[in-house]
Amino acid sequence: MNHNFQKDINAGLSASNKTLSSKYFYDKIGDALFVEIMNMPEYYLTKAELDIFKNQNKELINALKLDKTTFFELVELGAGDGTKTKQLLKALDDLNYDFRYAPIDISDNALKQLKTSINKELPKVQTEPKQGDYFDVLGSLKTAEHPIVVLFLGSNIGNLPDARAKEFIQKLDKNLKIGDKVVLGVDLIKPKSVVLPAYNDAQGITKRFNLNLLARINKELDANFDIETFEHQPEYNEDEGIARSFLVSTKDQTVTINSLEKTFTFKKGEKIHMETSRKYNDQILNGILQGSALKITGRLTDSKDLFADYILMKI
Ligand code: AVJ
Repeated sequence: MNHNFQKDINAGLSASNKTLSSKYFYDKIGDALFVEIMNMPEYYLTKAELDIFKNQNKELINALKLDKTTFFELVELGAGDGTKTKQLLKALDDLNYDFRYAPIDISDNALKQLKTSINKELPKVQTEPKQGDYFDVLGSLKTAEHPIVVLFLGSNIGNLPDARAKEFIQKLDKNLKIGDKVVLGVDLIKPKSVVLPAYNDAQGITKRFNLNLLARINKELDANFDIETFEHQPEYNEDEGIARSFLVSTKDQTVTINSLEKTFTFKKGEKIHMETSRKYNDQILNGILQGSALKITGRLTDSKDLFADYILMKI
């Protein structure tokens, strides 16, 4: 992990267009800042998807076309705190479906907390957390005879550029059997007046979320970024449907990363690309699914039409 971190940071800051990967946002402080982001008034994504899971869980279950007499496994990629998923688990449990919940996460700690809270709130739901890399775990499920429903929620796929999202879908497809399903949560393409504030909140939490990665590099790679000299600059291109976040150097400066034994120069106004958050519609999703055996068989949106949970089936 630390070796990959070091290698990726070096590659990203050595490129002519400097870039850092948003996958490194989530250390302990980053996790806490993301919880704050989900609670801010401007960040509509989590609330919109929760609206779907709260108010349309019957529709979601119907769209999954599950057979009540056949045991199935609900596998969640990157489960988080499970707030949305618990709504679905409760509805499945109330309707007496025969299933097991298998959250997959890199963080053992997150999984333990999730299992404890589900055992308490939904004691009849069987929970079997699996720690590890998504595809390693999915690969191990491939031999399962029972049907699989994969949950990949929260517009997490949006952090992947289209080519990488395509690779992700191909891999997912290869790890599923015919008839298995995926619930894919994506943020929908919409006007800039709605999207941009979600990445440029009044309280400056998103700014701190981005700057935290520089602080993390300072701590973990013994570097001397002067955090105060970088500004948060989010952009949203409505035609593409892509939000991007940048940190911009407010002066000419040199940063030393001791563990790399290297210095990096920044010109005044030079940007570091920090994150891509792609928004979707049917056409873009179909483009990503092209070449895989996963097809769109259903689509649920929240009451404000901000967010969609697509049902995909391997055919
Ligand atoms: C967790 C990837 C869905 O892109 O909206 C929130 C992360 N970044 N605010 C997103 C994020 C800045 C978030 N995802």
